[in-house]
Amino acid sequence: MPDLVTVVDHPLVQHKLTLMRDKTTSTAGFRQLLREISHLLAYEVTRDLDMTTRRIETPLQVIDAPILDGKKLALISILRAGNGLLDGILDLIPAARVGFVGLYRDEGTLKPVQYYFKVPDRLEERATIVVDPMLATGNSAVAAVDLLKQAGAANIRFLCLLAAPEGIACMTQAHPDVPIVTASVDERLNDHGYIVPGLGDAGDRMYGTK
Ligand code: URA
Repeated sequence: MPDLVTVVDHPLVQHKLTLMRDKTTSTAGFRQLLREISHLLAYEVTRDLDMTTRRIETPLQVIDAPILDGKKLALISILRAGNGLLDGILDLIPAARVGFVGLYRDEGTLKPVQYYFKVPDRLEERATIVVDPMLATGNSAVAAVDLLKQAGAANIRFLCLLAAPEGIACMTQAHPDVPIVTASVDERLNDHGYIVPGLGDAGDRMYGTK
């Protein structure tokens, strides 16, 4: 596994992931689990954020206490499934700025085409976390990061729930400067581009659209 990839093997993450993979888990249960697991993944993906200190006064003394440095984080959701991870991360980082990237696959060229792009200003000054539960072929992730770099982002990390080896290879080749944090690297992609064993279509599972 390239050094760029962190697999979060914490027991709580793996337990929740198993419940999410189970096809008998309800839509409400899936959504709740996604929210909970995104808290734990957010903890890991923000582990190396820059810190500074702020002078404060506790009831007992003045101290220089640690605090996040720099401008507010940018969280970028790849529509639509990214929104499930986004909601949980915002519970932990409520002051983060939020952007959305919408991409669809052109059936002729099979390449991702942008239909929506709205991101916070001054991306070049922000740590940017791109979220999408499923890193499958990697095509949308690569296209989203391309767009974010064009918009100025320079400190980018990618957070997903499941990754296929094919998606990791695609991302690390196109964007070797973007670390990936995931709860699992699964076996492979099937002929329909689904991650196996996976959890099915993340958007359908979280929004009950199938
Ligand atoms: N997107 C999904 O929602 N699931 C997969 O398995 C692959 C891509």
